[in-house]
Amino acid sequence: MLKNRVALVTGAASGIGREIAERFASEGARVTGFDRAGEVAIRGDVRVPEDVERAVDQVMAAEGRIDVLVCSAGVREIGDIYTMPTEEWDNVIAVNLCGTFYFCQAAARWMREGGGGAIVNISSVGGLIGLARRPAYTAAKHGVIGLTKSLARDLGPAGIRVNAICPGLIRTPLTEQYFVEDAFEEGLRSIVPQGRAGVAADVADAALYLASDQSAYVNGVSLTVDGGWLAEKSFAAGEAAASTFLAANETVDGP
Ligand SMILES: NC(=O)c1ccc[n+]([C@@H]2O[C@H](COP(=O)([O-])OP(=O)(O)OC[C@H]3O[C@@H](n4cnc5c(N)ncnc54)[C@H](O)[C@@H]3O)[C@@H](O)[C@H]2O)c1
Repeated sequence: MLKNRVALVTGAASGIGREIAERFASEGARVTGFDRAGEVAIRGDVRVPEDVERAVDQVMAAEGRIDVLVCSAGVREIGDIYTMPTEEWDNVIAVNLCGTFYFCQAAARWMREGGGGAIVNISSVGGLIGLARRPAYTAAKHGVIGLTKSLARDLGPAGIRVNAICPGLIRTPLTEQYFVEDAFEEGLRSIVPQGRAGVAADVADAALYLASDQSAYVNGVSLTVDGGWLAEKSFAAGEAAASTFLAANETVDGP
């Protein structure tokens, strides 16, 4: 699906980014991984615009073009709003939101020269709802969706599509800590209609679709990959009210 396409993937040393890089390579793409750690082609920090420029320049020098960009580098905080250090807020916004912007900007300049491209930004269900105890992460991921929509409008005329993915709970090093207790997975089964946590391959499949010509007319969307979790959650939260509503409506044919 990506034969001979040139792809750059951030956060490629771990979890979802790594899975996407491997999947794209198995679909014929020439993939360059970027990360601040681990075994990747280019080491750098998404918070540093010079690192981002250097990475994009390096891919251009080696490959002559960039067809696909995936922004998967991310961190999140878990904490108390009353005591959260402002440095933590700054860092989570810088990695998830600013880093995504820097990469989109740098890659788009070359994609325009090359006649087009596809950008896939990894947001989160936290970009769609308010997650408790994660204010910076939630704000940053909402920001990624706003950025994606804005860029879809600005870059569309240059043949560049920009879409986001909103993963639900995906088992990766980022979320591994939740799985230490068996009760967590049991609880997950009851709130996720698919009955399981996601795996990185679930997100890689969606990224492959959005990066490929299969999604040629898809631009500016946020694709939720959460096993139906958000759909279930919104209903479960209002279940009492909903059942009252449904019962009330069953009597419409009555006297
Ligand atoms: N795992 C989930 O349940 C889940 C759910 C929704 C969204 N996401 C998002 O998916 C993306 C990938 O998450 P993951 O679960 O694979 O996490 P992960 O921790 O396994 O991988 C994240 C990668 O980003 C890299 N990274 C972090 N800060 C960086 C920086 N400043 N510069 C360069 N690289 C940096 C890390 O080194 C790491 O390799 C993130 O944006 C995350 O917010 C994950």
